[in-house]
Amino acid sequence: MTLDITTTPSDHPRSDAEVAEILANPGFGSYFTDHMFTVEWTPEKGWHDARITAYGPLSMDPASAVLHYAQETFEGMKAYRHDDGSVWTFRPEENAKRMARSSHRLALPVLEPEDFVQAVDALVEIDQRWVPTNESGAGEKSLYLRPFMIATEAFLGVRPAQHVTFMVIASPAGAYFKGGVKPLTLWLTEEYTRAGRGGMGAAKTGGNYASSLVAQQEASAHDCDQVVFLDVAEGRYVEELGGMNMYFVHGDGHIVTPETGTILEGITRSAIIELARKKGRRVEERKFDIDEWRQGVASGEITEIFACGTAAVVTPVGTLRWDGGEVSGAATDQAGPLTLEIRQDLVDLQFGRAEDTFGWMHRIV
Ligand SMILES: Cc1ncc(COP(=O)(O)O)c(C=O)c1O
Repeated sequence: MTLDITTTPSDHPRSDAEVAEILANPGFGSYFTDHMFTVEWTPEKGWHDARITAYGPLSMDPASAVLHYAQETFEGMKAYRHDDGSVWTFRPEENAKRMARSSHRLALPVLEPEDFVQAVDALVEIDQRWVPTNESGAGEKSLYLRPFMIATEAFLGVRPAQHVTFMVIASPAGAYFKGGVKPLTLWLTEEYTRAGRGGMGAAKTGGNYASSLVAQQEASAHDCDQVVFLDVAEGRYVEELGGMNMYFVHGDGHIVTPETGTILEGITRSAIIELARKKGRRVEERKFDIDEWRQGVASGEITEIFACGTAAVVTPVGTLRWDGGEVSGAATDQAGPLTLEIRQDLVDLQFGRAEDTFGWMHRIV
């Protein structure tokens, strides 16, 4: 705990009745809590002026570097309320370390992982009434947390900013799947790529998401839920979806996930590697050829495919569609047993319904 945080409570917090109404049907990313966390950085002072204030608009110089050169990084994580009322995050130090790696890639200063966790904890603590309850154990509502770092120095010129701001905001999130877990239909883009060697693929930075939007539009135009990106060098190897990592379950029980380097190293992805290995499964992190996908599903060698990430936890994948064809068969039309089992294991852990044998949960309240 090295940040000295000044707290100025909001003078216009939402009433308990308003919060209750929002939490009954929060959707995703539409409502924000009463407060926000902010800390500034300059080369002379390092990180300073840490504060919690009322949530509200920022006043920014129009020449702020982030608006022109996209020098920014962010994270996505959740706070979960357990049945005893306590509030927890899942592996927050992994988000902190990933943000440090992203910031290094974007020539931003590193916020020490313990300061990152302290900032997130402080915001969740003051806005704890915004962490939804999940009556009767059925729901999967949570408080989505969005730490982000932006270049706030006002100048026009391409060089690392000398004034940077790190913030945390929070938004209640409803269950991702309403009415049961349903397989996604995916669009294979052969025109757009996400990341190349030496690029920013492994960093969580807004530019990667900006560049994915046109491919996502292409996916929607073909009635698909999400887009699949292939590697930039050969256009053969599966990388990831616009916002999720991928897993392929094989007939003999082993599972394959694309190797890292140009993909975003998901915290859910790495948790699944550990969980599956503990269950005695062989997990391979390797290049995965798109033809292995097409042929494996057609032959029945691939028995389940799923995607994973903080928002949806684990999502079954159904049909893969591309310009001129698609594969979907018995193996892809419903959530498979391992997909559902891993999903349940993670959700039970996050919501405190299973013993935390990995020590992944971090108590805030
Ligand atoms: C591009 C991309 N890949 C993978 C993931 C999954 O990462 P995590 O499991 O840490 O949410 C995300 C979500 O943050 C993402 O945006």
